[in-house]
Amino acid sequence: MENLRLIYDGKTKRVYVKSDDMLLMEFKDVVTALDGAKVTHAAGKGVLNAALTAYFFKLLKSEGIDNHFIHYDGERSVIVKKLSMIPAEVVVRNYAYGGLVKRLPLLKPLTKLNTPTVEFHYKSDELHDPLILSEDLINAGLVSPHELEVIKEVSLKVNDVLLRRFDGCGLLLLDFKLEFGRDSDGKVLLADEICGDSVRVIDSDGRHLDKEVFRRGGSVDDLVKAYTLLACKLGIDVRGFQCT
Ligand SMILES: Nc1ncnc2c1ncn2[C@@H]1O[C@H](COP(=O)(O)OP(=O)(O)OP(=O)(O)O)[C@@H](O)[C@H]1O
Ligand SMILES: [Mg+2]
Repeated sequence: MENLRLIYDGKTKRVYVKSDDMLLMEFKDVVTALDGAKVTHAAGKGVLNAALTAYFFKLLKSEGIDNHFIHYDGERSVIVKKLSMIPAEVVVRNYAYGGLVKRLPLLKPLTKLNTPTVEFHYKSDELHDPLILSEDLINAGLVSPHELEVIKEVSLKVNDVLLRRFDGCGLLLLDFKLEFGRDSDGKVLLADEICGDSVRVIDSDGRHLDKEVFRRGGSVDDLVKAYTLLACKLGIDVRGFQCT
């Protein structure tokens, strides 16, 4: 990667130092399962997820939601503002699904929630990203009460923008995952990715256009097709991919 220093080789992205305050995130052609224990090659997935991430972060910026995105190279890399990451996954839910149904079977899959919910998971592969209380984040010193409010507010704003955008192309946004970090001034900013790996969306036939395809035993080809369809529905032109 043009002689940049690799500082993190993650499950789905490599992170390089671009400058003092910028990083380059390169999306890999891999799909992981079981908290990264199972890794499968998925040709084309990196470019699709980079294009989707660039698209959503630009859209959010245009809607007044500040975030880490700086530039997309048109292939598999995005340049972002370097942040100190908060080790939490923020999950916004509109419908009961996945982990929520597993922990509370009273809620049947695809039940519309009365109001969107924001939940927190402590980022730890070893512990399988356990659900935690918002108070836990404060007690553990991971965020201040004010930062927690900012994170909740921004997450719900992101939800509004994404719900509208997906609705506009006939898709239903079930839930998604966000990450946040602090910049050098201590400002909390939306970071990481928004792509097929981190959102759950279905079309009017209930077909998934996200990683659920793979979780349910679909092939790598099925997964790449689903992500391609997602990009096509959103009108994103992805290099090397045709919308037919
Ligand atoms: N703006 C940013 N500044 C610094 N780090 C970032 C930024 N955006 C995302 N990251 C971090 O970069 C890494 C991206 O790699 P990847 O998503 O593959 O990691 P991962 O294997 O999923 O591990 P993790 O559990 O840390 O996410 C993540 O650790 C993510 O938190
Ligand atoms: Mg990650």
